[in-house]
Amino acid sequence: MEKVKWAVLGSCGIAKRRTIPEGIIAAENAELVAVYDLNTAANEALAKEFGAKAVGSEAELLATDADVVYIATPANLHYEQVRACAVAGKHVLCEKPLGMANDEAEKMIAICEEAGVKLGVGFMMRFLAQHQAAAKLIKDGKLGQPVYGRAQLSCWYPPMEGAWRQDPAQGGGGSLIDMGGHCIDLMELFFGEVKKVSCFTNNSVHDYKSEDSAVALLSFENGALATVDTFFCIPDASSKTRLELYGSKGSILAEGTIGQGEAGEMVAYLEEDAGDYDGLQNTGGGAGAAINPEPVNMYRAEVEEFSASILEGRETSLSADVGLRSQKVLSACYESARTGRVVEIN
Ligand SMILES: NC(=O)c1ccc[n+]([C@@H]2O[C@H](COP(=O)([O-])OP(=O)(O)OC[C@H]3O[C@@H](n4cnc5c(N)ncnc54)[C@H](O)[C@@H]3O)[C@@H](O)[C@H]2O)c1
Repeated sequence: MEKVKWAVLGSCGIAKRRTIPEGIIAAENAELVAVYDLNTAANEALAKEFGAKAVGSEAELLATDADVVYIATPANLHYEQVRACAVAGKHVLCEKPLGMANDEAEKMIAICEEAGVKLGVGFMMRFLAQHQAAAKLIKDGKLGQPVYGRAQLSCWYPPMEGAWRQDPAQGGGGSLIDMGGHCIDLMELFFGEVKKVSCFTNNSVHDYKSEDSAVALLSFENGALATVDTFFCIPDASSKTRLELYGSKGSILAEGTIGQGEAGEMVAYLEEDAGDYDGLQNTGGGAGAAINPEPVNMYRAEVEEFSASILEGRETSLSADVGLRSQKVLSACYESARTGRVVEIN
């Protein structure tokens, strides 16, 4: 099979932990050719492990024969790095968030369009087989009219010297943009576009500059409502990453599907007909059906999809438009948190 040549910019964070071993190396239609990271020693060790070339600068990386560059650096570097890749004629898969805010995401899209290269964004949680199955059930009307959803993603992230997510000037914000971005993206996969938001952010426990707490209330074009709750100050073991989707014909409830792993449980409680009003209101009695499709590694699926879109010269489901949508909703959430107002997505 023809293989797309991948280079990695910022190779020693999530790239090293997940995207290189589980994605680029595992993908049938991709090969890793070069890696670059400020951490020279770790970059060289990584290159050796995976048979790639370790280079000493971004310019050197862009001078390789790579077809696509995967960018996995802090958010405040994304805009300039995407621009440099586009100028060098490389397709780009940029990690979320797509830059710091709307304006950067819009400029990145325009620059890549002008350069004739593809720009994708790394919202890999869309590829989880259970998320795809839930999206199909909703699309097929099995949930009835979507009514309410909840997506939760939290962790323990104590103050650390140099942690870029703890400084909004580097991360664009805290738990909301970092983890809430995935939750918002998933809710848009399930319920369609968000129309308006109301949001609270806070520093409940940690005193760094980024928020460690955020709850956003989303109102969708289709009339559904959802909440996204995301905290940097809840211990990992207690963060169960709940996903709840309710409609007029039932619910789809999951634990552990939102995250980086493949493990999680999802159960659907669906009815053909909710029936007449029953004054006894016997809630919680229905037998659910486990949703257990064949597991898919999200990083591999992401790399294979982006590579295939290049090989086949077609649009990608990882389109940067998804990244821009996410930025618009996130910006509205931050504005709401700042002003105390409901904010419409324009
Ligand atoms: N999709 C996911 O599963 C997932 C998970 C974690 C992080 N992310 C995203 O990936 C990106 C990176 O996050 P992370 O957790 O890996 O951060 P990190 O800080 O752990 O790693 C970033 C890496 O980039 C390197 N780096 C920084 N500046 C650089 C530069 N100018 N040139 C080359 N290398 C440079 C650092 O040395 C470091 O190795 C962020 O956008 C984040 O939101 C995505």
